[in-house]
Amino acid sequence: MCHIWQHPTLPAEEVSLETLAKLPGGFDYLNLTGGEPTLRADLEAVVDLLYPKTRQLEISTNGLQGDKLERIIQKYPDVKIRISMEGIGERNDMIRGEKSGFERKIATMKRLVAAGGCDLGFATTFQDDNCDQLLDLYRLTASYNGEMATSALHNGFQFHKIDNEPYNRLRIARSVEPLIVEMLKSRRPKNWFRAYLNLGLMKKILGQPRLIPCTAGRDFVFLDPWSRVYACNVRPDLEIGDLTTQSWDEIMKSPRAAEARTKVARCAHNCWMVGSAKTAIRNKYFAKIPRLKPLWWVLVNKARVTFGRRIPFERMVDFSDVATPPIVPRRESWLGKTFRPTFQSKSEKPYGAFNNVMNK
Ligand SMILES: C[S@@+](CC[C@H](N)C(=O)[O-])C[C@H]1O[C@@H](n2cnc3c(N)ncnc32)[C@H](O)[C@@H]1O
Ligand code: SF4
Repeated sequence: MCHIWQHPTLPAEEVSLETLAKLPGGFDYLNLTGGEPTLRADLEAVVDLLYPKTRQLEISTNGLQGDKLERIIQKYPDVKIRISMEGIGERNDMIRGEKSGFERKIATMKRLVAAGGCDLGFATTFQDDNCDQLLDLYRLTASYNGEMATSALHNGFQFHKIDNEPYNRLRIARSVEPLIVEMLKSRRPKNWFRAYLNLGLMKKILGQPRLIPCTAGRDFVFLDPWSRVYACNVRPDLEIGDLTTQSWDEIMKSPRAAEARTKVARCAHNCWMVGSAKTAIRNKYFAKIPRLKPLWWVLVNKARVTFGRRIPFERMVDFSDVATPPIVPRRESWLGKTFRPTFQSKSEKPYGAFNNVMNK
């Protein structure tokens, strides 16, 4: 779903421990994502450094290097691990181009459960090719007592490709409904709020406005592999500084950061990703409690599901308002294909030809 793996960074230029040490403490949530975090030889040292700086540390990973993750979980059982899983069996392998990926991820999950991991799960990106398997994926995750993180296929300036457009938006959005119902039936309050996040994904898939405005640059930022700081990971024009040469405070209080926040307030991208959605549903002043709007939705719909009533999705989602997708090349599977990586250096225009793709 991205071609970051075809354009790896040069390890010597990647954000260093010294630079990461500049991050202050007191974060609510830090997510080590990618690219692929387990490709960092010093991942364990990165975790040692960041773990004390945040209430919750997550590693989003392909889950193919179980040994590295197992060592981290043995040391920090509450580090949140989300293994990307896009389908059952060969479906996962086809979408992600991973040889025996499904089996390898299951093996990793078992190792992490045995190592005492207490916040494990799979992460799934809703798309045409897996929307008929969402309930199976949810049940698979639940069988390991895990949580299912979700997102919707999208384009981003770092992806080196622009074909992440849904082919049949209505079909994908409708396929999320049974998942929402199942999540609301669960006994875990976290799943109920995940159901609300999935409602937001239905709107995102159809191309409709967000449920709650975005707070990029204020409540969350994105640090790229070269230590550049952006208000979010979708718009390249929201770059606000460089942590190698500046301090955290300097960046966050800079005129560029202020300007980026103004642009965020007017942003029409309507994305709804883990960073921008999870932060948006939280109370502005007390991050641990939700805003009234999602709380009310959860209470009302939990009650509906409990008493066997249907959820009136049409009250929140206009199914007649479906965005027309741009014409893009058909996505291909990389399973079994070979490729030659082209390394990218910090001095080049970041992310190559597609750098400005999200500005158009
Ligand atoms: C950025 S990846 C990093 C983790 C890992 N390297 C991997 O292979 O998935 C984190 C999450 O983003 C999802 N993701 C990747 N490409 C995406 C895309 N084009 N649109 C939406 N989500 C995507 C992945 O499935 C995963 O759940
Ligand atoms: S809505 Fe706009 S500012 Fe917010 S994450 Fe998406 S692209 Fe960035």
